[in-house]
Amino acid sequence: MNPILVIGGTGTGTVGRQVLSRLAATGAHVRAMVRNPGAARLPTQVEVVRGDLTLPETLDGCLDGIDTVFLVWTAPAAAVAPTLERITKHARRIVYLSAPLKTAHPLFQQPNPLRAMFEQIERLIETSGLQWTFLRPGMFAANALSWWAPQIRAGDVVRWPHLAAPTAPIDERDIAAVAVRALCEDGHVGAEYVLTGPQSLSQFEQVSTIGRAIGRSLRVEEISPDEARRELLTIGPLPAVNMLLQAWAAAIGQPAHVTSTVTEITGAPAKTFLDWATDNAAEFRA
Ligand SMILES: NC(=O)c1ccc[n+]([C@@H]2O[C@H](COP(=O)([O-])OP(=O)(O)OC[C@H]3O[C@@H](n4cnc5c(N)ncnc54)[C@H](OP(=O)(O)O)[C@@H]3O)[C@@H](O)[C@H]2O)c1
Repeated sequence: MNPILVIGGTGTGTVGRQVLSRLAATGAHVRAMVRNPGAARLPTQVEVVRGDLTLPETLDGCLDGIDTVFLVWTAPAAAVAPTLERITKHARRIVYLSAPLKTAHPLFQQPNPLRAMFEQIERLIETSGLQWTFLRPGMFAANALSWWAPQIRAGDVVRWPHLAAPTAPIDERDIAAVAVRALCEDGHVGAEYVLTGPQSLSQFEQVSTIGRAIGRSLRVEEISPDEARRELLTIGPLPAVNMLLQAWAAAIGQPAHVTSTVTEITGAPAKTFLDWATDNAAEFRA
């Protein structure tokens, strides 16, 4: 199998880490680009090469001999063009972890600076000559780890805005399973896969589901968007917080967008939020 480079798959990478361990299990030749090799904690079969998206000159060594790239982007916008130039020079194929930018549901259609950056990445990939596949997951189930786990570990009350807003949280393992198919099989070039969990659940129902998974009765209190904006700054920068608050507000009143793409690509049902919460229960226990 052709060598694959995973960018964004170190110890802290939610989706990329899953992609790396699944690729390693297939026996594929897999390389990880990491900023800090000492902290990467990757399977021994994975070749680790130091690189940083904000230092484009470090990419050539990571991309040397690579056929296919899995790209997770959380770096600043200034690094987008130099990075894609280098990927295009070395690789033939790319699978990019994007978002449902084209899905006509209000949750996904709020203007924001991050969206402009994702659109720029897609435009550069589409015009690069690379064979591409875009993964477009909705809300990650794993967001619950930074959003709610600290409050749940500290007590039985979760304070949160827009509790009625429904989303269809997707398990990062399902995103990774689709990514591995797109990286290793033919037939995915030019595809844009909108990936969601199997159920529309309000944020209130999601917190209650975690309570069920850990055997505790949690109390959920609605707070105003302004109060939430101040508190959420501890888990993300202001543009990301504003994006979430706008998206949740706009989503209230209709069910979340749900697709069957995970099942169609992998042949297995998408994991439910209860599956995810049960498998991650330890993260919510003090
Ligand atoms: N969360 C959601 O609900 C959601 C929904 C749809 C789409 N998305 C998209 O998914 C992506 C985030 O995926 P994720 O949650 O799996 O990411 P993540 O857990 O935040 O991991 C980011 C990875 O990128 C690496 N990284 C960051 N800056 C880097 C740099 N300058 N050079 C090299 N590597 C760098 C990090 O490495 P270190 O270990 O060195 O930090 C880490 O491995 C974003 O593009 C987001 O827009 C998220």
